[in-house]
Amino acid sequence: TEAQYEFVKVTTPRPGVGMIELHRPKALNALFTPLIADLNRALKSLDSSPTINAIVLTGSHKAFAAGADIKEMAPKSFADAYGADFIESWSELPNLIKKPVLAAVNGHALGGGAELAMMADVLYCSAGANFGQPEIKLGVIPGAGGSQRLTRAIGKSRAMELILTGRNFSGKEAGEWGLAARVFESPEECVQGALDAAETIAGYSRIAVKAAKEAVNKSQDLGIREGVEYERRIFHGLFGSEDQKIGMKAFAEKKKPEWVHR
Ligand code: HXC
Repeated sequence: TEAQYEFVKVTTPRPGVGMIELHRPKALNALFTPLIADLNRALKSLDSSPTINAIVLTGSHKAFAAGADIKEMAPKSFADAYGADFIESWSELPNLIKKPVLAAVNGHALGGGAELAMMADVLYCSAGANFGQPEIKLGVIPGAGGSQRLTRAIGKSRAMELILTGRNFSGKEAGEWGLAARVFESPEECVQGALDAAETIAGYSRIAVKAAKEAVNKSQDLGIREGVEYERRIFHGLFGSEDQKIGMKAFAEKKKPEWVHR
């Protein structure tokens, strides 16, 4: 299955963990339509794989992705963009993928590259990563969720400043502001850290992991009262899963749980 992709590499570096590496080195992983098509196919294939429970998304050490492909975008008219719903295809990661996706961000993550990273469920980066929303310099604005996801992640004043000035920010800053869950010294450690976390997640009950992701994501759409009610309904539902019995019985017996939903 791995040979069928041109612009991503798909591997299984740890038990239960699928890794997608963006691979368009000549253009610093600039995100053009064929790459997004490969990415979507790879994501859907891992999401439906019975042996994969968590996904790591990364680029190279030099670039996670240097943005949407400026050369592809440059000639588009309004009718081209609106008519074909340009960028809509990028929404498959946040809208369709049910397994946890951890982004390991090294090097440039600019424009659409930063936006893609922010679509992941967990964002890890190295201290030297180079984030930014430079679209203003090209006469446009973020188009793949940057104005919304960056603002929720780091607050309005910081997001506004970054999007209006187009200035870049470091992985270190991303960690300090809470955009990144963890910041690593080097790109190697960043990828290994993401694989470690993914392997940990992949070792839990698949049903519980799916429910946890769903509940946390609801917090982005619902008010606190509806969100807590939503969480409780899912929590109640899990008492109908075998893994709830297995997990709690194993605790009482001081044993390692052997999940049935894996
Ligand atoms: C198309 C790109 C590209 C991009 C780099 N390349 N970024 N091509 N779209 N976003 C290509 C270059 O043209 C060049 O191709 C090759 O990759 C290597 O890049 P260099 O510029 O030579 O590398 P370097 O000097 O190391 O500079 C790295 C860089 C710079 C600072 C990241 O490439 C850069 O500023 N890129 C653009 C960043 C950007 O503006 N991103 C936001 C895009 S707008 P050749 O053929 O010359 O070797 C966006 C909109 C999102 O993302 C909204 C909807 C999703």
